[in-house]
Order: sequence, then structure tokens, then C-alpha cells
Amino acid sequence: MSAQPTALCAGVPPRIAAFLQVATPQAWVERALADPEVLLLDHAACEQKAAATALSLMHRYAALERLVERMSRLAREELRHFEQVRAQMRRAGIHFRPLSASRYAAGLRASVRHTEPARLLDTLLVGALIEARSCERFALLAPRLPEPLGRFYGGLLASEARHFEDYLLLAREAAIAGSIAEAEVEVRLGELLAVEAVLVTAPDPQFRFHSGLPESSAAS
Ligand SMILES: [Fe+2]
Ligand SMILES: [Fe+2]
Repeated sequence: MSAQPTALCAGVPPRIAAFLQVATPQAWVERALADPEVLLLDHAACEQKAAATALSLMHRYAALERLVERMSRLAREELRHFEQVRAQMRRAGIHFRPLSASRYAAGLRASVRHTEPARLLDTLLVGALIEARSCERFALLAPRLPEPLGRFYGGLLASEARHFEDYLLLAREAAIAGSIAEAEVEVRLGELLAVEAVLVTAPDPQFRFHSGLPESSAAS
């Protein structure tokens, strides 16, 4: 695979860099910097969806004390991020318009198994992957974006890294509760990391916050 190991990218928290299988292609970073309107519109939608996902997990697994506690806090933080992105949009004179969703979340969700306890484990591992990738992209964009957007993106790093750790912790706990061996969790995580790596590095005709290699650069 032509993408660099993530560890080579300055500014990405080491835990996140070590976790992800591949780095975001540089061409995606350049594309994002060239289209801040779509970047912010889709970013706002991602924050809203992250809150909705946390709320739906709280409903589905209402008996799991730690999951409910962590997801409740996470949902509040994601909604706060949503409000902050909308404020950045207002400041930049960007008006809301609906965007089609990227292939990323749907592509990951398609890998989630349908029966418990595998379903919960996969859902939580996918949550960790999405948070890790978001964190990495904030780190890559923050030093290159104009202010106040750069500072804002830099400030989101810490909470997304914490969300990543929350999902990972809950996944480990779900595995123990579901009698899934640690080795099996590692294998499953490796499979999902590989799916995620393809989604971010394969040519993608659409630009979004979690999109893949911009198609124009794939052709060259
Ligand atoms: Fe967020
Ligand atoms: Fe998050």
C-alpha cells in the first residue's frame, strides 16, 4: 500500500498513529484545504451523527452501566462540537445545505456482525476506528487551516482521542462480558482496521470528512 505509516505524520497523537493501519493520503489533506465549505458542512453532519450513534447505543444497551455513562457524556460532547462547527460556519458565511453521506460509515457498518455478542463488539470497535480517524484528520488539518479554524480543529484533538479510548475500553469490556477471547478481539480488530484502510486510501469520487483518495490524484 502506498500510504505512509501514520506514525510519520507530525502532530498525530502517538496512540492514534500506532492504532491506525494507514495514514490519510496527503492528497486528501490538500483537497480538504481547497474546499473548507464542504469540509465544515460534512464535519457538522459527522458530529451530529456521532451524538445520534451514542444515544442509540444507550437505548439498545440500557443495562450496561459503564456504556450508558460513557455514551451519555460522549453524546453531549459531540452535540457541543456540532454547535461549535455551526458557529464556525456562520463566522465563515457558510449556509447549511444537505450533503449526501460519504461511503465511509456505511462501509464500516456493513462489516458489523448481526448477532450478539459480536454485534456489540464490532459496533464499539468501529466507533473507536471512526474517532481515531477523525482525530488524525484534525491533527493533519489544524496547522494548515486559517485561524480561527486551525485553533478550533487543534482543540478537538483531545476529546476525539478520549472518545477513541472510551470506545476501545467498552469494546474490551463487551468482549469479556460476551466471553470473547482477547486473541479473537485482536483478529477482529485487524479485519476492521483493514476495511477502514481501504476506505481511506481507495480512490473516491466524493470529497467528505472521511472520504478516500481524491479521484483526480488517483488517476495521476
Ligand atoms: Fe466530535
Ligand atoms: Fe468524537
